[in-house]
Amino acid sequence: MSAARRTSIGIVGARGYVGGELVRLIAGHPRLEIAFVSSRSTAGQEVAAHVKGAPAGLKFSSLDAPEAAASSADVIILALPNGEAHRYVAAIDASDRPDRVIVDVSADYRFDDNWVYGQPERFRDRIRGARRISNPGCYATAAQLAIAPMLDALDGPATVFGVSGYSGAGATPSDKNNPEILRDNLLPYALTGHIHEREVARHVGWPVHFLPHVAPFFRGITVTVSLPLTHTITTEEMQQRYERAYGGEPLIRLTAKPPLVRDIADRHEVSIGGWAASDKPLRAAVIATIDNLLKGAATQAIQNVNLACGLNELEGIAHG
Ligand SMILES: NC(=O)c1ccc[n+]([C@@H]2O[C@H](COP(=O)([O-])OP(=O)(O)OC[C@H]3O[C@@H](n4cnc5c(N)ncnc54)[C@H](OP(=O)(O)O)[C@@H]3O)[C@@H](O)[C@H]2O)c1
Repeated sequence: MSAARRTSIGIVGARGYVGGELVRLIAGHPRLEIAFVSSRSTAGQEVAAHVKGAPAGLKFSSLDAPEAAASSADVIILALPNGEAHRYVAAIDASDRPDRVIVDVSADYRFDDNWVYGQPERFRDRIRGARRISNPGCYATAAQLAIAPMLDALDGPATVFGVSGYSGAGATPSDKNNPEILRDNLLPYALTGHIHEREVARHVGWPVHFLPHVAPFFRGITVTVSLPLTHTITTEEMQQRYERAYGGEPLIRLTAKPPLVRDIADRHEVSIGGWAASDKPLRAAVIATIDNLLKGAATQAIQNVNLACGLNELEGIAHG
């Protein structure tokens, strides 16, 4: 009996931090294989020279949008900076296989009703069999999972204080990943109007105030969320709400102790907990930690590919 054919994946933007995690995950996935890994700046070079764990012999190529669309890939994952996905999507739409799965990890389609928002723990049924999937943002994944179980008890905007490791700013040099600026430091930025503020508000259906910062560590995000309440809720009742919402979710860990960002690095899960509630003033607090490059990007993309292609959602994601 022959083994089932593997689903082939093309990655555009494969030199980046998210692209590297995708290469590693797909290389270890029993039902997926790499069709191409595209990067303009490293074309022709061995992927393993840039990405630890990449298959030997695999090389970067530089595919423009029509070339990516003409490839044999069954699924194309776009891991490009914001604003760059459209021409690849347009080329795939116009190709002879327009019904291929596209997963876009940028923010370009997170506000587009024609695309499915790929947050499996909240919208799993919509993702199964979908062909156009926008992968949620890293902060946005942590924040919405932290807020969602409390939505019916909120009396005003949720305030999300976020701190990210500098890999959140990508591999291209900027102030937000400059070691000199970050050394012994915490860098506030985009304190109003961050795209993840709008993303979380849209996908939980409730206003959010988001205050992001970058820290000198490489990977991991912590969001500390303050929730104004309509009525008294005890800390125990709060914990029960999260257990009801996420008790069966393999990629969500619940913890009464505040989760620490250091403990989530290199892990596929989101950790949520450290619940605290008071009645004077009427408010509650909850913390979520996430590895921005894994559950905040690549792991979630693989969950989405698995769901879209009818595979087990956690196939190729070694967790626990
Ligand atoms: N970093 C995170 O924690 C994180 C988390 C969730 C989502 N995301 C999102 O994921 C996407 C990728 O993030 P990243 O951190 O991996 O970024 P990155 O490290 O800066 O990598 C960007 C990739 O895109 C390629 N690229 C850049 N401009 C391009 C263009 N105009 N046309 C074609 N390719 C281009 C780059 O390679 P070449 O220049 O060699 O072509 C590189 O491979 C972004 O949209 C980001 O917002 C990132």
